[in-house]
Amino acid sequence: MANKKIDMSKLGINTRLAHDGYSADDYYGFVNPPVVRGSTVLFPNAETMATGGQKYTYGTRGTPLSDALANAVNGLEGSAGTVLVPSGLVAVTLPLLAFLSCGDHALIVDSVYGPTRHFANTILKRMGVEVEYYQPEIGADIAQLLRPNTKVVFTESPGSNTFEIQDIPAIADEAHKAGAVVLMDNTWATPLYFRPLDFGVDVSIHAATKYPSGHADILFGMVSANEKCWPQLLETHGTLGLCAAPDDTYQILRGLRTMKLRLEHHRKSALEIARWLENHPAVAQVLHPALESHPGHDIWKRDFSGSSGVFSFVLKQGGNAEAYRFLNALEIFGLGYSWGGYESLAVKVSLSDRTVTKRDYPGPVIRLQIGIEDTADLIDDLKKGFAAL
Ligand SMILES: Cc1ncc(COP(=O)(O)O)c(C=O)c1O
Repeated sequence: MANKKIDMSKLGINTRLAHDGYSADDYYGFVNPPVVRGSTVLFPNAETMATGGQKYTYGTRGTPLSDALANAVNGLEGSAGTVLVPSGLVAVTLPLLAFLSCGDHALIVDSVYGPTRHFANTILKRMGVEVEYYQPEIGADIAQLLRPNTKVVFTESPGSNTFEIQDIPAIADEAHKAGAVVLMDNTWATPLYFRPLDFGVDVSIHAATKYPSGHADILFGMVSANEKCWPQLLETHGTLGLCAAPDDTYQILRGLRTMKLRLEHHRKSALEIARWLENHPAVAQVLHPALESHPGHDIWKRDFSGSSGVFSFVLKQGGNAEAYRFLNALEIFGLGYSWGGYESLAVKVSLSDRTVTKRDYPGPVIRLQIGIEDTADLIDDLKKGFAAL
């Protein structure tokens, strides 16, 4: 922003997204920051070098570009600090490594993103961490699972693929009484629709691959912590030698500038399609927390200020064959993983790894990522899928 004196926190969200993190005064008036590539940073003399007495000391420890993005994200999350990492999955695994040690107990929500579960079941177990899964709707009853050695409570709301909503303030309250750190994968809502730290979460995790990128061409992660957890997070990030590529960092900051505009289209279109699906005779249930029929709707309404563009629906009957016929008939929806990009995607969901919440759905579950195409075209495409059943 041209005038550095403006207090960003008092401005509207689109203004902050457009200007936060970097000032044109920082680089000869250019409205965007330069892409800073670099490992070595020179010091003016041996004394400064010996004390590390300057802002930048080595490429992995931050650059003016990584600071521009981290500062913008701190403004959105209300966090003390943000680290940047090369994928959303690293954004999940880094804080788990930062706050867990051998002999600790970790509580992880059963509706967690599949690769998070895989990391917990492999590397965390190998480290000697006892991993226990809990049901997403547990709320304050999490108190019954907390032990003296519970160091982390991992949350993700809505849950992956089935979109259960968690009572985050109630869980955070109990976890803190027991001395545990609360982590949240907030990729679905982004800090525009839910600010985890305002609801008691200590560390907010974001797969920036999704909405901040918005174009299915970048893998990126961001982890933001409150004052209490920031030193430990930063120390672990540095110790592991993690950093994000400069070009990707630039693109994610660029993506933030338009994120609200894109998200609003994803939100409106996804909700319209979810409502259309809810009235379709072949659909048993639509798993979208902004629908009044969703079991977690009241908590979602209390805590979230919007919904994004990915949700699932359940067919009334059938199995793999029916799901594949539906998916194969789609022409605009691509069959692919990930979400948050401009293009719509569909995938048949597998819930076989769940251990606590075995869902008894009458037919296959299909997840849709609603892109920024015209809603009417997407509905026409889905009609082709239903016609093939
Ligand atoms: C909820 C959630 N968290 C984290 C990730 C990981 O992001 P990435 O694909 O950048 O590793 C994903 C990816 O699908 C996700 O859905």
